[in-house]
Amino acid sequence: MSIDERTEQDVAALRERIAADSLTSRRDYLRLAVTMSGGLAAGGVAVAAGVFHRHGSGTAPPKLVAEQLPPGQSVAFAYPGAEDRAVALRMADGTLVAYSSICTHLACGVLWRADRGEQGELYCPCHEGVFDPRTGAVTAGPPPRPLPRVLLEERADGIWAVGTLESGEEQP
Ligand code: FES
Repeated sequence: MSIDERTEQDVAALRERIAADSLTSRRDYLRLAVTMSGGLAAGGVAVAAGVFHRHGSGTAPPKLVAEQLPPGQSVAFAYPGAEDRAVALRMADGTLVAYSSICTHLACGVLWRADRGEQGELYCPCHEGVFDPRTGAVTAGPPPRPLPRVLLEERADGIWAVGTLESGEEQP
C-alpha cells in the first residue's frame, strides 16, 4: 500500500468518524431540547394547577406562631397548611407582621434580613428579590406580585396566625 493510498484511507476514516460524531451530537442536542421543553411544560402545568402552595384569602383554625417575638427578630412557621411556609417578624419599632415566605417569582424561600435596608428587608436570595416588610410590596428584583399576608393576633398567651390574604389584598 502506497503512502498516498494510506492517506486517502485515513482521510476517509476520519470523515466517517466526524460524520458519526456530528450525528451523535445532533441526536444528543435534540434529546436535550426535548427534555428541557418537556420539563418547562410540566413546570408550567404544575404552576397553573396550583401544585406549588400559595397563600390565599381565607380562614383556617388559629395557630400559635410564637410565645413572643422581640424587635428585630423573626420566626418561620407554616400556615394555614403544613406546606404553606411563612415568616412572622417584629420590626424595630414594634410593628408585628407576617407573610408567606414563598417568593412570588419562582417560589424560593424569602428570608427576613434585619441588616439590610433602613428598616430591614424581606429578601429572596435566588434572584435578589426584595419585599417591603411593612406591606409585602415588591421593592426590587423580578417578583411580579407582593407577598401574601398572614394575619396575626397578639394574645396574652402568644402570637397567633388567624387568617391569610391574597397577594396585594388589603387587610380588612
Ligand atoms: S425566586 Fe425569588 S426572586 Fe426569583
